[in-house]
Amino acid sequence: MPKSWTSGGHELHLDLEPGFGRRAALERALREAIRSGRLTAGTPLPSSRALATDLGLSRGTVVQAYEQLLAEGYLTSRSRTHTEVAAVPGTATRTQSRSATNFSVPYDLEPGSPDVSQFPRSTWASALRHAVTSAVDEDLRYGDPRGHPALRRALADYLGRVRGVRISSQAIVVCTGFTNGLRLIATALRDRGGRTMAVEDFGLPFHVDAIEQTGLRAEPVRLDDDGLVVDEIPKTDGVLVTASHQLPWGTTLHPARRGALVDWARDNNAVVVEDDYDGEFRYDRQPIGAIQGLAPEHVIYAGTASKSLAPALRLAWLAVPDRLLEPIVKVRQLSERECPVFEQLAFAHLVESGGLDRHLRRMRTHYRKRRDYLLGALATSVPTVRPIGIAAGLHVTLLLPDGVRDEDAQAVLAEHGVGAHSLAAYARRRSAAPGLVIGYATPPGHTFAAAVQALATALAKLV
Ligand SMILES: Cc1ncc(COP(=O)(O)O)c(C=O)c1O
Repeated sequence: MPKSWTSGGHELHLDLEPGFGRRAALERALREAIRSGRLTAGTPLPSSRALATDLGLSRGTVVQAYEQLLAEGYLTSRSRTHTEVAAVPGTATRTQSRSATNFSVPYDLEPGSPDVSQFPRSTWASALRHAVTSAVDEDLRYGDPRGHPALRRALADYLGRVRGVRISSQAIVVCTGFTNGLRLIATALRDRGGRTMAVEDFGLPFHVDAIEQTGLRAEPVRLDDDGLVVDEIPKTDGVLVTASHQLPWGTTLHPARRGALVDWARDNNAVVVEDDYDGEFRYDRQPIGAIQGLAPEHVIYAGTASKSLAPALRLAWLAVPDRLLEPIVKVRQLSERECPVFEQLAFAHLVESGGLDRHLRRMRTHYRKRRDYLLGALATSVPTVRPIGIAAGLHVTLLLPDGVRDEDAQAVLAEHGVGAHSLAAYARRRSAAPGLVIGYATPPGHTFAAAVQALATALAKLV
């Protein structure tokens, strides 16, 4: 039932899908409008009374839907009577604001991106040239839905060497980014009769959406200082975990919990999906090996080129236990089928020639310097702000003193031209402490120092 409402000059078409309760349909329609970028951050929503009248719903239904979206971080409220669209990480909205960022937010510290100004363009160009000139005619036909064998061999070798993953190239599936891989996994679990998947109770909202779009239900599980509270995972068909560097808290899953997680999977005939999105970047000690290495038959290891090189490559990979390989490959075959072959071959060449290792070594030094600069500036200007999760990855989470409101933090940052995410935007169930998630890899070199100084100045006004 398509409906429209008008508020403060904003007119929006909302499609309330049949087959859902009225409140669920409204929540879905609003989420869709926000994720697709039709409703951008800062857009005020009509009062619950006005929207209820426009849509022919009860006011209570609208209030409950707003409350749910506030809890999920899609909406934010300045006061009891003013609700607006929040800055949601990883959505089309954010992508749009990111490209708009170049014009409107001079200091982009939103997490989610490496420093793309460091992308090794000439190395990639020669890898692509190598791919195009060395590919045989057979490579240009429809290929294996798992990905080109040359890339799978290179990845099996690389993952074993760098992340302690134990996998044969036969059981690797190359996909178009992790989110695509997650959809493949969730669809395959559903096709086998699965119904639910556990997720950390803080994480990227669109990962839950990717799971739920397949028909599986996502069940948030509590996190504490040691990472996912494994004892509290309900009986589900799988669990998605950022074990090496939790997004957003930055914790590393405690060694005892790693073992317990594998036991949980074994006991429940379930699968652990290990999202190792930034596992290559650890600064203060040896990288922690993948959980997959402990129990390859119970863990799907997932890696991506989005942090190590650039999100635009759309290259990721799954190391899949034997029993799930065929169902996942079947889904892959019926969807995108395969990634573009020249890119696969270029990436294989980059891995095998040592070009990726060299790039990672250089970037680790680059990011560690950035992190240290950021932490130094914050310690000097705003010592009451507590950075956590600093040992790895490309983001730090800043815990703000109690009583600081997210909305105020966002407003002050915006005044200083700084883009960052609030911790609350990652909350899937419980509410978050006041905090910010800062992607220190995102700005290009020429704005980095100024971005950090602008952040420190803004925070000094706030705390
Ligand atoms: C938690 C997490 N997982 C995975 C990814 C990578 O996703 P993709 O490979 O789809 O770019 C990201 C990137 O921001 C991430 O933050």
